[in-house]
Amino acid sequence: MSQSIRWGILGTGRIAGEFAQGLQHAPGGKLVAVGSRGQGTAQAFARQHGIARVHASYQSLVEDPEVDVIYVASPHSTHCEHTLMCLDAGKHVLCEKPLAVNLQEANLMMDRARQQECFLMEAMWMWFVPLIQEARKRIAQGVIGQVRMIQADFGFRVDFNPEARLFNPHLAGGALLDVGIYPIAFASLFLGPPQQIVSLPSICTTGVDEQSAFVMRHSSGALSTGAAAIRTRTSQSAWIHGTEGSIHFPSTFWKAQHLQIIRENHPPETLSMPFDGNGYQFEALEVHQCLEAGMMESSLMTHEQSRSFMQIMDAMRGQWQMRYPMEQPSSR
Ligand SMILES: NC(=O)c1ccc[n+]([C@@H]2O[C@H](COP(=O)([O-])OP(=O)(O)OC[C@H]3O[C@@H](n4cnc5c(N)ncnc54)[C@H](OP(=O)(O)O)[C@@H]3O)[C@@H](O)[C@H]2O)c1
Repeated sequence: MSQSIRWGILGTGRIAGEFAQGLQHAPGGKLVAVGSRGQGTAQAFARQHGIARVHASYQSLVEDPEVDVIYVASPHSTHCEHTLMCLDAGKHVLCEKPLAVNLQEANLMMDRARQQECFLMEAMWMWFVPLIQEARKRIAQGVIGQVRMIQADFGFRVDFNPEARLFNPHLAGGALLDVGIYPIAFASLFLGPPQQIVSLPSICTTGVDEQSAFVMRHSSGALSTGAAAIRTRTSQSAWIHGTEGSIHFPSTFWKAQHLQIIRENHPPETLSMPFDGNGYQFEALEVHQCLEAGMMESSLMTHEQSRSFMQIMDAMRGQWQMRYPMEQPSSR
């Protein structure tokens, strides 16, 4: 591994641009290459972000010997294919969330990473936000007693467009995979995997969920409730309620820089951990640390954790009988 970890970005959409900006705040790494399905989009992205090496195909990107790790920023339906392409070329991978469409794909990706002795991590950036980690530490120290309930929602409203990634079943669209994974991951961080899940969706005319809500019961008996939406703006906030108090994460909870601790007989306490940049640098820093240490997976965002997210979302979609066109009846 070189002194500075050399990043390539696969895909030139919205989040690819955000991540390129985030990387500027992640010492130890440098964005050296971009790959796109088209020469024009690759060049435009490279110009915008000052990237030296421009690839007009993903295959050309993954074969670039000057690249150590690739950030996969393509639609859900292609995460598996593109990650395998990277791994087969011996590249480490940070893959956008959700890691895959379903558990079967995720298992394939994790198995391949092991076989190829490459690092693979799901880009669940929320877990690396400093204040969210600080909240975890405070809770472990007992600041609100034993956690009993968690509430979190991530909903926004966009115009309905059956072709767009969010609504297109061929791109594994829908609110659950796009944003429902955030309240799921938030609850999982504080309570571990659920033992029981109950959920309901509203399905739109393209056959994907435009909103959904869930309740999960965790091993301690604590409950988490969550909601996700792409046609309804929700509070985008989160609460953690314990036996001795609550923590409130105001909007937008997944990149929290401020929170409030509320306890009986105590004045409310505000905790702030502001950061520069858009917050994507923290997951990149985790990748840098793992690669420098020769690790094949993060000790925080583990493969097992990604497997759990997929199991939860598979279970919810199973309850809704919602299957994507690319899924064979036996794939879940
Ligand atoms: N972490 C976050 O905060 C966050 C936020 C938004 C989205 N995401 C995740 O990031 C991923 C991409 O989302 P996005 O909003 O950036 O999507 P987007 O704007 O639609 O961009 C996706 C990019 O993927 C590439 N691509 C490859 N195969 C494609 C196909 N068959 N159809 C369309 N595009 C294809 C395209 O790049 P080229 O044309 O250059 O090949 C396209 O620009 C998703 O997994 C999403 O859940 C994460």
